[in-house]
Amino acid sequence: MSVPSIGRFTLLLAIGIAALAWTPWAVAEPFPLGPKACQDCHKDEYKIWEESKHFKSYRTAHKADDAEKIAKAVGGKKSMKRNVNCVVCHYSTVQKEAGAKAKVKAGPACESCHGASSDWEPIHFEYGGKDVKREDETPDHKAKRIADSTAAGLVWASMSYDIAHNCLKCHGLARSEIDGEAFAKMLEAGHPINQSFEIVMFSQGKMHHSLDKLSPAQLADLFVAGQAAKLVSATEAAAKTEDAKYKAAQTKRAADAQAVLQALPEAAELIASPSEANARKMMEAFGGKDLSGAIGGQIPCAGSDKENLMQC
Ligand code: HEC
Ligand code: HEC
Ligand code: HEC
Ligand code: HEC
Repeated sequence: MSVPSIGRFTLLLAIGIAALAWTPWAVAEPFPLGPKACQDCHKDEYKIWEESKHFKSYRTAHKADDAEKIAKAVGGKKSMKRNVNCVVCHYSTVQKEAGAKAKVKAGPACESCHGASSDWEPIHFEYGGKDVKREDETPDHKAKRIADSTAAGLVWASMSYDIAHNCLKCHGLARSEIDGEAFAKMLEAGHPINQSFEIVMFSQGKMHHSLDKLSPAQLADLFVAGQAAKLVSATEAAAKTEDAKYKAAQTKRAADAQAVLQALPEAAELIASPSEANARKMMEAFGGKDLSGAIGGQIPCAGSDKENLMQC
């Protein structure tokens, strides 16, 4: 049977369908698999997450007194779990496959902080063959595994700026996908803004799920990353609207972060021109230097021996 016998049109159609079916894979954004996909291997982290407000808020946030009022003020669905303006920050969605419908399944979870995992989950723990154990992985394979997983969107614990950037996307009522007027309406309707959110204080209490306590140098690095991400997000947000109340709240957040960062000469360019690029440049300029001497004293609760930093 020769090719033309299936018909040129049919062939083109078949190629077209194949291309259509394939394209979403080639260009699709990574999507979240959901916390259950992590539970078996990361039991300890999962347990700590289950005790956190992030986990519990899936069952509580929409029952708060102001929830419907805030949702209605922004427009769209009055149910938080159906209102896109709320879902981005309050919930984790899960997808079966690329292009499938994203379903609201949990509160903020693993991938809210570590990145949507469809592309990196299958490779991040693969040591170079079915029977190869962690300690037998070759250095080349390890370097490639880490680079590939990072390129596919895995935010490792050591990537302090990326982690801080993710926290600050949700904490501080500033986020690039949502316009300034919507945020102004949320604030007016009583949405909290929590000016005191600070990443060390808020991550080293009940949220903390590393096996080891962070060293003073690691805490200082996380603290500075958090201030940088706050300065960038607040500056961007303040410029998005003329609403006086929202603008003032964001201007205050930016000023607070700026006051902290002033102690560091490497922060000069970021302070003069707050942008994500300059924040990343500053973090790179530190080159792993211990910042605890320069800035450790400014960390809220620094020196406290409390188990839960959120209590001090
Ligand atoms: C089959 C087991 C397995 C599954 C499933 C799995 N992980 Fe992992 N994960 C590992 C192992 C093993 C490591 C350590 C990798 C290494 O040696 O570098 C790891 C490392 C990580 C790290 C990096 C930790 C660090 O030191 O920076 C993060 C973050 C992470 N996993 C998150 C997740 C999330 C989120 C999910 C679910 C979407 C998930 N993992 C699913 C086994 C797994
Ligand atoms: C930019 C991210 C973001 C968006 C968008 C957002 N929220 Fe929130 N919301 C938060 C954070 C973070 C908190 C916790 C604030 C704190 O700890 O001060 C919160 C707290 C709340 C609370 C208080 C919850 C409680 O347990 O008391 C309600 C109610 C609420 N949000 C409703 C909404 C509604 C309704 C929408 C959609 C119209 C929405 N939020 C959109 C981030 C967001
Ligand atoms: C609120 C943000 C957030 C959430 C949610 C979150 N993580 Fe993390 N994760 C972090 C931060 C921050 C660190 C590193 C700094 C620290 O431990 O305080 C970390 C560290 C890790 C590490 C390295 C642990 C180690 O011992 O060094 C793994 C693995 C990990 N997370 C997996 C998970 C899994 C699995 C989930 C979901 C069950 C999860 N994380 C949920 C922010 C988060
Ligand atoms: C996807 C959005 C999102 C991300 C990312 C996120 N959070 Fe949250 N977080 C929330 C929301 C929403 C709440 C409020 C839940 C509620 O009150 O119902 C919250 C609550 C909290 C609380 C509880 C506060 C309290 O008053 O009890 C802490 C602590 C916290 N977040 C820390 C962090 C840290 C640290 C990071 C980054 C490592 C982070 N969060 C990343 C959305 C997020």
